[in-house]
This record gives sequence, structure tokens and C-alpha cells, in this order.
Amino acid sequence: MDDVGVDTTTTRSRDFWEGRYRAAAQDGTSLWGAGPNGWIAEQVGRLALDPGLALDLGAGEGRNTRWLAERGWRVIATDFAPAAVEGIRAATAGLAVDAVVADATAWTAPERADLAIVCYLQLPAESLAAAIARAAESLAPGGVLLGIWHDREDLARGLGGTMTPAIRTTQEETAAAAGAAGLVVELSDRRDRETPAGLACDCLIVARKP
Ligand SMILES: C[S@@+](CC[C@H](N)C(=O)[O-])C[C@H]1O[C@@H](n2cnc3c(N)ncnc32)[C@H](O)[C@@H]1O
Repeated sequence: MDDVGVDTTTTRSRDFWEGRYRAAAQDGTSLWGAGPNGWIAEQVGRLALDPGLALDLGAGEGRNTRWLAERGWRVIATDFAPAAVEGIRAATAGLAVDAVVADATAWTAPERADLAIVCYLQLPAESLAAAIARAAESLAPGGVLLGIWHDREDLARGLGGTMTPAIRTTQEETAAAAGAAGLVVELSDRRDRETPAGLACDCLIVARKP
């Protein structure tokens, strides 16, 4: 996923995202494409998780939500932009999806979940730690958090022009936040991803609630 937004703020506000989703809906375009994030799909397969309740936090247009729901998962998808949530509802009609307007730094699920996905939810460190802590609280024992973010390394590679350093993160920071939230980090890594501008870098975690 290439993030093409022009960002002049240190963080990305709800109004910023609401405007982007409203504009995309008017143009009939998609910001993130139809398929799931490749790494998320790969990890759900690798972990051979039995479909249960999944959370998709900062779900955007719901590409990961839809993919999971089509594979038998019940999904609660949240985003703080109401236009995103409207789009998720339209894109997942008929599937076992509950789409909710919620701030990932403050929301916990009404029932404990088997899987929580955090996919390119780029927040300043303190907010990101809060979102990971809320995700951890929402998991049942044995539940898994899958997180993927744009790594701060992109700034060094010259690919960081569209996002500010404050909302970039690293595998060390995300793993530390997951550990502080009481999760056991099973995988903490970085990996390259091809983009038209060159190789971008993502950081990733797989963490489990004991
Ligand atoms: C880069 S998009 C990724 C969307 C989706 N996860 C995907 O990968 O297709 C980031 C999303 O996070 C949402 N977001 C940002 N901050 C949030 C917050 N504090 N709580 C909930 N959603 C948030 C934005 O509205 C946006 O939809």
C-alpha cells in the first residue's frame, strides 16, 4: 500500500481522513485497493487460526475486514472517520461485520476477541502505545495481535515525504508497546515492500495474549 496523502500536520486528524474518504467516495475511487494486506493474509494463514471474532482497528475501507469475513470470521471493524465506517458497511453488506466509529486509542471491544489487526495505523508513539494497549485488553487469552506499520527507515531512504517522522515507528517501539501491554511478542521484524518510488520498509509484530 502506498500512502499518497499530502500531510502538513504532525499527526493525521479525523478531519484529514474524513475528507479523504468523502472525496474518494465522490470520485468512486478506493484509497487502499480491494485485496487484503499481503502480510496480514500471510500471517493468518501461517498461524492457522480458527475463525472466531476478529477486530480490525483503523480499518479504513475494510479490505482486511472483508477478507477475514469472507473466510468465516466475525469482524468488528473500527475507524474514527465516519465516512470510512459508512464505506465498510457498504463493502461488507451480508457478511458478519459490525462497523463502528471509534478511536482506537480509547475503544475496547464489547467481547474478547481471538484476533486483532492493526494495519498502517500510524500514530504518535504515545497514542500508538495506547491503541496497542486497548487492543491487548480486547483480546481473549491466546488471542493474537497482528500489527504492520510504515517504518521510520523510509525517511532515511527518501520515501518519507508524505508522512511526518512523528507518526513513523519501528519494530523496537511496537514490540516494546506490545510487551508493556502484557502481550508476548512472537515475531518482531522489518521487511521491504516494492512501491513505484522504490523499496519501502514496514515493521511488523505478531504478539499473543498469555
Ligand atoms: C493508512 S489508513 C489504513 C486503513 C486500513 N487499515 C488498511 O490498511 O487498508 C489508516 C486508517 O486509520 C484511521 N485512524 C487514524 N487514527 C485513528 C484512531 N485514533 N482511531 C481509529 N482510526 C484511526 C484512519 O481514518 C484511516 O482509515
